[in-house]
Amino acid sequence: MHHSGIGFDLINEPSTKNQKGELDMDALFRKEGEFPDWETLYNTEPVQTLPWFTLEPDLDLVCTLKEHHISSGTFLDLGTGPGTQAVWLAKQGFQVTGSDLSLSAIAAAEHYARSQGVCVALVEDDILASSLEGPFDYIFDRGCFHVLPPEARAVYVQTAFRLLNPQGRLLLKCFHVKETGMQGGPHRFSTELIRSTFSSHFELLTSHETHFEGTRSPNPLALFNILQPRNAK
Ligand SMILES: C[S@@+](CC[C@H](N)C(=O)[O-])C[C@H]1O[C@@H](n2cnc3c(N)ncnc32)[C@H](O)[C@@H]1O
Repeated sequence: MHHSGIGFDLINEPSTKNQKGELDMDALFRKEGEFPDWETLYNTEPVQTLPWFTLEPDLDLVCTLKEHHISSGTFLDLGTGPGTQAVWLAKQGFQVTGSDLSLSAIAAAEHYARSQGVCVALVEDDILASSLEGPFDYIFDRGCFHVLPPEARAVYVQTAFRLLNPQGRLLLKCFHVKETGMQGGPHRFSTELIRSTFSSHFELLTSHETHFEGTRSPNPLALFNILQPRNAK
């Protein structure tokens, strides 16, 4: 079945259904920090049903670009998933690379970018063993960092630092420590935990409470952070 206009093909029926026939999130994300295999997930579930899916641009991203008068440069959309944010950024005139661990996610993002007539470099890449080469002016991470195991965070921090222009910014959205509506799923963060986790390589410029828009209602509580590489001139 093709959903004309949005560019996503609904190839598969959801495999993990609740009584209403919808994707059963609680079965997929039972415990905090436990996730299904990403490639299997994107290969079996229609992307529109995934909790983080939205065709709208992330509101905190939109506000950040506006407030900081950011209108050009290179962006890495890290853990791009269905690519909706990468495509929106490309439409704003940025040069965009989207990366994801899952090849099926990259295929969905490529399909979406083509349907929207924009050019985005889409790459299969594990950020914990990354072959990406920067530097990027901006890294946007909407939901990748918070799914990584705690012991992998140091590698993420070093890699994000390596990939960023020294004058660049990391825009990081993750679940808030106050998010309790959802039982399992992503790790939760406070401002202090973000500051201390990144402090070896980044200065935390701002951090505020917000929401993670997607298919869940209500939207989970989130933390949006702007980080600057240390030793930036
Ligand atoms: C919560 S989803 C967010 C997707 C997308 N950013 C969005 O907002 O629609 C997290 C994404 O991170 C990807 N991911 C998980 N671990 C990763 C890793 N080690 N390297 C790169 N991507 C990863 C997953 O495949 C998934 O697409």
